[in-house]
Amino acid sequence: SERTLVLIKPDGVARGLTGEILRRVEAKGYTITALKQVSASEEQLAAHYAEHQGKPFYQPLVDFMLSGPTVAAVVEGDRVIEGFRTMAGTTEPTVAAPGTIRGDLGRDWGEKVQKNLVHGSDSVESAEYEISIWFG
Ligand code: GTP
Ligand code: MG
Repeated sequence: SERTLVLIKPDGVARGLTGEILRRVEAKGYTITALKQVSASEEQLAAHYAEHQGKPFYQPLVDFMLSGPTVAAVVEGDRVIEGFRTMAGTTEPTVAAPGTIRGDLGRDWGEKVQKNLVHGSDSVESAEYEISIWFG
């Protein structure tokens, strides 16, 4: 079995979609083994988004992630890293497939940052690194 870090980003929490998103994770058959609501710090976000530092969307992304609480979860199951990213859909919610979290629940809002509701780790290495950032 494998584990991944799932974040329900501030747009998802503010829109009251935490339950719907966690419901989908559980309905898929994955196990939520840790769960908390947090207000991210600049330091946490700099670590979490280190790969994006220097890109034009970096500061809008960090500002968005500082705009309200995030729900962080550790989710476990066989191939859960790939499985959750399939459930999330592609980065841009406007074009994410219907049936996915971003495709069903997200859209563009005319802003610089893609408010796309969720994050899921993209490899075993990034999952372990990100879990340490959010859960210590
Ligand atoms: P995460 O699961 O959040 O990591 O999303 P992702 O893996 O689909 O995207 P990626 O890691 O490439 O980018 C992280 C976040 O930065 C995205 O979820 C978006 O919120 C934002 N982002 C990424 N690429 C762009 C871009 O080209 N333009 C804008 N405006 N935002 C972007
Ligand atoms: Mg990513």
